[in-house]
Amino acid sequence: MSKLQDVQAAESRLLIHTYDRYPVLFVKGEGVHLIDEDGNRYLDLLSGIGVNALGYGNKAIEEAIAKQSTTLINASNYYFNDKAAGLAERVTRITGLDRVFFSNSGTEAMEAALKLARAHAGILREEGREIGTKFLALEQSFHGRTFGAVSATYKEKYRAPFAPVVSGFEFVKFNDVDDLRAKFSTEVCAILLEAIQGEGGVRPLSQEFFAEARKLADSTGALIVVDEIQAGMGRTGKWCAYQHYGIQPDITTLAKPLAGGIPMGATVCTNEVARAFHAGMHGTTFGGGPLACAVATAVIDFIEKENLLAHVVEVGDYFQAQLTKLAERHACIVDVRGKGLMIAAELNSAALAKLAVTEMLKRHIVINCTSDTVLRFLPPFVFERAHVDTTIAALDEVFTEFAAAQPAAQSVGGHIHG
Ligand SMILES: Cc1ncc(COP(=O)(O)O)c(C=O)c1O
Repeated sequence: MSKLQDVQAAESRLLIHTYDRYPVLFVKGEGVHLIDEDGNRYLDLLSGIGVNALGYGNKAIEEAIAKQSTTLINASNYYFNDKAAGLAERVTRITGLDRVFFSNSGTEAMEAALKLARAHAGILREEGREIGTKFLALEQSFHGRTFGAVSATYKEKYRAPFAPVVSGFEFVKFNDVDDLRAKFSTEVCAILLEAIQGEGGVRPLSQEFFAEARKLADSTGALIVVDEIQAGMGRTGKWCAYQHYGIQPDITTLAKPLAGGIPMGATVCTNEVARAFHAGMHGTTFGGGPLACAVATAVIDFIEKENLLAHVVEVGDYFQAQLTKLAERHACIVDVRGKGLMIAAELNSAALAKLAVTEMLKRHIVINCTSDTVLRFLPPFVFERAHVDTTIAALDEVFTEFAAAQPAAQSVGGHIHG
């Protein structure tokens, strides 16, 4: 039996079944490549679902881990450590907000955001304002798996088995300003947004919708919460995707690439919102420990030092241009969209999208499909044009082979935008 088969057998016996994994056993990473047990190198356009932004084997990350692991890994939040404040200084600077709560994952960052929003509305009520406890989230949203975050997550399949989920959430049609206006009232304490929906299919908010949400929230004291867990930390070419719109949220959430693969989440907010929490109201044992903070600091410093945001824009634009050209040859690609290195090619068939992921994996290229028909590309920020060319050539081959096998399945015409 191969090592993969051993692991498959052991996991099927021992792990609670929450993931259907592809039959690959990765044992190492180098740059933009993952390496399996037989030494095969895979070009990685998933980055651990947006986590490994600096690729694999990044020296700044490795050195930060090595140094901090031999100094102090954890001492609890009852005491100060010498890394959290330095990271908070950087996180507030890149988000344009004032204060941070550190946690350990995206969903946990969202929980803190939801609790902050409800507690903030409570303060406003005490001060005589008319404001309720309801949240508005968007259709196709994804905010995480814990009870609060999953209650804000649109797809029924994530919520239904766990009913009743947290009450007080209502979903607004994506980018539908009229629906937003109809559902907004003084009952709402916060509107939850992703500036570019990730799991929902790499869908950007419209400027008009985002601006209207900000205006409505301002009219009552409700908060705008922007989940930047997937789009943030530079993936779209700006530190936060909301910065493309020139609109500031009251709260934002970061996670995935924040600490270079070490679990970490952050809930970042204005001074006005931060007054809703006082000592003892919220906490988490591991959050803001010196190891994660030291590594996250190294990640941010590396992105700045290497001017990676500009690189993300340059390679991302090239990637979208090449995908758009590919769409001219393959009518199965009906849309190309995204920003920076958060890119999607939407196909006209869920079966083809699924097939494309497995066919690319056979060619040792890791991509992902989300929302059934959307091929999603989240490569490391250190991706180069040559890697884009390799990816495009492989996609071309996959679509050509598919078309040859099923000529009747092809239809002409597709809508492309950047
Ligand atoms: C936009 C967004 N929010 C929240 C989450 C949840 O993050 P985590 O899986 O770290 O809990 C994700 C994860 O995919 C996400 O993409």
